Amino acid sequence: MDPTREGRVVIIGSGLIGCSWAMVFASGGFQVKLYDIVQEQVTKALENISKQLKQLEKTGMLKGLLNADQQRSLITGCTDLKAAVDGAIHIQECTPENLELKKKIFGQLDLLVSNDVVLSSSTSTLLPTKLFTGLKHVKQCIVAHPVNPPYYVPLVELVPHPETDPCILERTYALMKKIGQSPVKLTKEVNGFALNRLQYAIISEAWRLVGEGVISPTDLDLVMSDGLGIRYAFMGPLETMHLNAEGMLNYCDRYREGMINVLKTFGPIPDFSGETEQKINQAMIEKTPADPKHLNARRHWRDECLMRLSHLKKEIKSD
Ligand code: NAI
Repeated sequence: MDPTREGRVVIIGSGLIGCSWAMVFASGGFQVKLYDIVQEQVTKALENISKQLKQLEKTGMLKGLLNADQQRSLITGCTDLKAAVDGAIHIQECTPENLELKKKIFGQLDLLVSNDVVLSSSTSTLLPTKLFTGLKHVKQCIVAHPVNPPYYVPLVELVPHPETDPCILERTYALMKKIGQSPVKLTKEVNGFALNRLQYAIISEAWRLVGEGVISPTDLDLVMSDGLGIRYAFMGPLETMHLNAEGMLNYCDRYREGMINVLKTFGPIPDFSGETEQKINQAMIEKTPADPKHLNARRHWRDECLMRLSHLKKEIKSD
């Protein structure tokens, strides 16, 4: 395979998400320039990527058709923004979640790029109108929000600015598919995009149930991990409804009233502080103390589970 065939992608910011994107793009055969402001950070990121690729290869979890050395050779570091973006087809910004910083970076990019590169932000929370309004190249701008860790959790939320050219949305969608991610399109911006809106709805109700003493924090987490979560790893809430009755219309007929009655009993938005915060924190630290050693060990366990699940999902899909 000609490694230069797929074109060149630039990653701006070589932290957690930047490194993951670099690996995902390289797995799809793309050349990757990993840009950061400090050379030391770039060097550290490249070392970290080498280690991760080798480990993934050893455990049979490496994505794509190229081996670890071939993928690694597609990724190079850079601290010169102008040189980094020259000839790129896609720029994925992964700098810290700070509006002013990101606006400054997109402002710099706006002066450097041509009319045919996609300018994409990994932001988790910042709306496209806040990030991109006023840029000369606003038509080429989009949010492509990944889920941590993107190497195992393939979802990417694509959120256009009102002035984004529809071709850019389609092009980014196709690119994400090509590198094995699972893109979804939002037709317009909304706070929290789709994933965090769903996540916050769950967190709020979890908080209320624990706060009202209905269930313990540990049992609440089991409701998801041994209940809803198992199903949701393979299908969404809407398909779940469809299958849990004789189709969607029948589900609504049967459960409409019951759902509305339960939903009417939901309480106000919690303040995520005070007694409930203390109670939930106590349960969490009994299981995993909140120091780097224990948190990292548990994160490692989580990533291992996600890696195996992503493998299983791939196997099931290809059946
Ligand atoms: P991070 O703090 O690990 O990495 C940020 C990187 O940006 C660092 O390497 C830093 O040196 C670099 N940087 C700082 N200023 C820069 C500049 N002016 N030019 C170039 N590079 C610069 O942050 P992380 O976690 O990787 O997050 C990056 C983005 O991804 C954020 O917008 C975040 O909201 C988003 N995101 C994060 C997720 C997560 O779970 N960590 C999940 C999904 C999205």
